[in-house]
Amino acid sequence: MPWCSARAGIRARTMRNNLFAGRIPNLIPHDNNGTSMRYLTKTASAEDFATQCLILGVFDGKQPGASIAGLPASARKSILAALKKGDLGENSAATLMLYGPPGFKAERVLLLSLGEKKSFSGKKLASAMETAIALLNKNAARDCALLMPEEFQDHNEAYAAARGLVIAAEEQLYHFDQCKSKKNRPKKPLGKLTLLTPDRKRANTLKKAVKHGSAIASGMNLAKDLANLPGNICTPSYLADTARKLGRKSTRLKATALTEKQMQRLGMGALLSVSRGSREAAKLIILEYRGGKENSRPVVLVGKGLTFDAGGISLKPSANMDEMKYDMCGGASVLGTLQACAELELPINLVGIVPSSENLPDGNANKPGDIVTSMAGLTIEILNTDAEGRLILCDALTYAERFKPAAVIDIATLTGACVIALGHHTSGLLANDDKLADELLQAGMEIRDPAWRLPMNEDYDKQLESNFADLANIGGKGAGTITAACFLANFTKKYKWAHLDIAGTAWKSGDKKATGRPVPLLMQMLLKRSKQIE
Ligand code: BES
Ligand code: MN
Ligand code: ZN
Repeated sequence: MPWCSARAGIRARTMRNNLFAGRIPNLIPHDNNGTSMRYLTKTASAEDFATQCLILGVFDGKQPGASIAGLPASARKSILAALKKGDLGENSAATLMLYGPPGFKAERVLLLSLGEKKSFSGKKLASAMETAIALLNKNAARDCALLMPEEFQDHNEAYAAARGLVIAAEEQLYHFDQCKSKKNRPKKPLGKLTLLTPDRKRANTLKKAVKHGSAIASGMNLAKDLANLPGNICTPSYLADTARKLGRKSTRLKATALTEKQMQRLGMGALLSVSRGSREAAKLIILEYRGGKENSRPVVLVGKGLTFDAGGISLKPSANMDEMKYDMCGGASVLGTLQACAELELPINLVGIVPSSENLPDGNANKPGDIVTSMAGLTIEILNTDAEGRLILCDALTYAERFKPAAVIDIATLTGACVIALGHHTSGLLANDDKLADELLQAGMEIRDPAWRLPMNEDYDKQLESNFADLANIGGKGAGTITAACFLANFTKKYKWAHLDIAGTAWKSGDKKATGRPVPLLMQMLLKRSKQIE
């Protein structure tokens, strides 16, 4: 590059960064570690527990749960008297507020319908509690306590229910108003939820669940915040700074970010070709977590960190293009997961890698037909500049080899085709190892962050043949999600690998936007690998 254009490039980059520095203060949100709520567990009898609001579950609109049956007669009497009037709806999540009912220390008792007793589940409890939390967040009560239903079969079920409940509460309370001057926040927000049980052994289970649940929710909140931030603020450098901040918060976390120059020395021609059209410097962010034995091989998570995807010269249509700020959700979920693992001090080694760039049209951008050389040495013909995710991921996947991984999982908003195939409920999963695939499917099911596996084989590989290079970056009409994964598979031959396509699950339209998925799935897998749960 001649010196003048190099200088101009540097100046443009610096100006952009300065423009927003200081305008929106405290850009890294949730320095309080994600949760504004505190979640506690107490072994206590509900009638004696001092709280601004005690929540009691009721089945079929009239039948108090087993835990209420254990209350002393005076307390039970006021509940039964209220239920007898018939004002509590039968539908799940119907509520009836009682003020100062006799027999209780609590200022209020909220009767909460849990639907039919015979179909009760942790999921039902979580969704009813979302309603209760929303209600209490709006009213004057600042703390509440739920008498944990006793209808769960065993400790595993109670654990899953309590953990799911904390995650659901955080989901309910999440809001993103960092870029609004006028914050529309509740006057007396809810600040504390205590899970009550009279049983000491059950309390230990709940304690663990609450600890895991709030770490997972904090990780999700970090992922959501990064995702919801606009592309002019959440740039590759911003993601790198976020990783560095995480690195400073825990002695077990170490953050580095490779510069374009360093990536050039490594031969990352595919990744760098994407960033050529952008004035923001690309970063390869590496976040290492050491919690396991010195010599135990790490799980490596690789997350697509495309901070804005306009498509490049193969420009996307303008409708809803703003949503392409979410093209870094894979990278955000990696940072969120590492934060959660560090918070829980899991005994496991883990590496997060986030290749980060913008994809914009420019005189310097990739052009259809351009051929680039990846770090692995494979040449790639770029037939569509909008298939950029695989270009930044392939070099990151080659870089992952140096960690001698036990397994590599990449997470990416990779293909619109995945939204067509699976919609917004289920992530796509593709893998070169059946056991790893099953492990992830199982984990997703257990924590209600589901994935579904799609096939890969040589027939699909053929779609990626190029007339001029080793590989084309697109595979033609059919099976877009599969051919994208087949492309990546060329770079993952040296280790066990799985790919999560989160194009449909990482965000939803409407005011809640980013979902924080698949942090729960990844955490469930890592909690099991590190033997924190069965
Ligand atoms: N980031 C997009 C994928 C995407 C699109 C995610 C819509 C969520 C919603 C990716 O970079 C992309 O543009 N993929 C192309 C690939 C195609 C050119 C082969 C796509 O899916 O259209
Ligand atoms: Mn694209
Ligand atoms: Zn993209």
